Amino acid sequence: MWNVGSFLRVEKGFQMAEKSDSKPEITRRGFLSWVRAGWIAFTAAAATGSLSAFRFMFPNVLFEPPQIFKAGFPSEYADGMVDTRWKEKFRVWIVREGNLIYALRSVCTHLGCTPNWLSTEEKFKCPCHGSGFYISGINFEGPAPRPLERVRISLAEDGQILIDQTQIFQQEKGQWSNPESFLII
Ligand code: FES
Repeated sequence: MWNVGSFLRVEKGFQMAEKSDSKPEITRRGFLSWVRAGWIAFTAAAATGSLSAFRFMFPNVLFEPPQIFKAGFPSEYADGMVDTRWKEKFRVWIVREGNLIYALRSVCTHLGCTPNWLSTEEKFKCPCHGSGFYISGINFEGPAPRPLERVRISLAEDGQILIDQTQIFQQEKGQWSNPESFLII
């Protein structure tokens, strides 16, 4: 049976082996170092495996908001205002100018940051590198190379505004003249 006495005898054996031979091939200390290194490697491998198994339980699912949504009735939008209520959830601003309504993507055309609407300065301002856009979405300052993009806007059967982000309209390509890029009310 393995007990403290056995351990001490083995220990003594190692000490005698070390003393009897001035150049042992494998010393006790060396042997224990190898055992320790082996255990560390084994533990690290086991931990990595467990982490991978745990991570596998949480797949890379990206929860995107719906691309098509109803945005209320045109009468809810005040003239000359940028409506920011859909920005957080859908990344879209809805703007009304007179009887014209359009929807702008709240994505900076420089590197994709989210600009803010500054009502006192009447402009969209990107916090990342300072690009500025007029209420129309046209860029006028900073590194943004082109205007903000519009998304498809129409009226649903129930009279509500319907936003469809699967269709994008770019001013520099002449696409803002497409009747699906704005709404006349
Ligand atoms: Fe908007 Fe750079 S991402 S200015």
